Amino acid sequence: MSIHQTFYQAIWHYAEGNLNAALTAAQSIAGQGELYAQAARWLAKVAQGGETSPYLETDAFAAFIRGGGNVALYDAVERMVAAAWDDHRPATILDVGPGDGEVIAGALRHTALEPLPAFDLVEPASNLLPKALHRLGQQTPPVKVRGFNHTIQSFVAEAPATARWDLCQATWSLQNLSPTERAPLLRWLKDRCGVLLIAEFDVQAEKYPLLSPERVRLIHDKYVAGVAEYTGQMDPALEERVKQGFLMPILFGYFRSDAARSTYEQPIGRWVGEVEAAGFRAVERRLIHHYWWADAYLITAQA
Ligand SMILES: C[S@@+](CC[C@H](N)C(=O)[O-])C[C@H]1O[C@@H](n2cnc3c(N)ncnc32)[C@H](O)[C@@H]1O
Repeated sequence: MSIHQTFYQAIWHYAEGNLNAALTAAQSIAGQGELYAQAARWLAKVAQGGETSPYLETDAFAAFIRGGGNVALYDAVERMVAAAWDDHRPATILDVGPGDGEVIAGALRHTALEPLPAFDLVEPASNLLPKALHRLGQQTPPVKVRGFNHTIQSFVAEAPATARWDLCQATWSLQNLSPTERAPLLRWLKDRCGVLLIAEFDVQAEKYPLLSPERVRLIHDKYVAGVAEYTGQMDPALEERVKQGFLMPILFGYFRSDAARSTYEQPIGRWVGEVEAAGFRAVERRLIHHYWWADAYLITAQA
């Protein structure tokens, strides 16, 4: 059996919930490449202790976004977000899933906007929200910021009917919601935001069924490249944390059809379609960066 067929088997067994069979398959090719070695180590850990959200592994996520192709990706998105703020001059901004506040902090370095806007941050990861609040609290001049340790769904359920923001932004966070959750959220945003900014990836693998060989192969090839970006580039212990704490759970998460699936990405045209279907107008997409996982785009829309 080829390496690709064995990798496919590991994925298939994992998707079926058969962790021991997945582990056996991954271990049989662990010596054939870093991706497979990482997959085998991660499956061994999960078979013993179960899975946790990759976003709760704060150190892994922080090291991931500060290394590899993320350096150029974040620099580009921060400049484009700052330019959008400068164009639209928002006094209030809602950020859906700001993580540790990297995009906002970076955009604040590039914006010419005065006075600076007030931010509402809706971030469910209880370890990331305090980091974002701390970073923004240290800005000079100071920015007004409020944090809500909620998912956007529970925030929406509790928000007052009068809540409005000049600009709402979501950088790689709407992919965490299923399409059926996104549609009502986008309609809610349409009624409450002047301008919407969404950063997402153009994920072609999502044209194929969940466990089709084409989809597994495309994701495999991307992750060979992604894992290589965190191999021999920084502190080896930190690289191991990035791969075990972030890249592997995200990779395997692509093949879960149950409630524990962590991402619902799609080709960029479908993102644009969802935003238009929610009633936004002047929906534009612009390339942010050719990233290892996929091309990244910024979608801008008017409510
Ligand atoms: C890929 S990270 C992006 C973080 C940040 N926006 C950035 O660009 O660096 C996805 C973020 O979405 C958050 N998230 C996940 N599910 C969410 C939900 N239901 N509502 C709001 N945020 C969510 C995660 O906790 C995480 O901080």
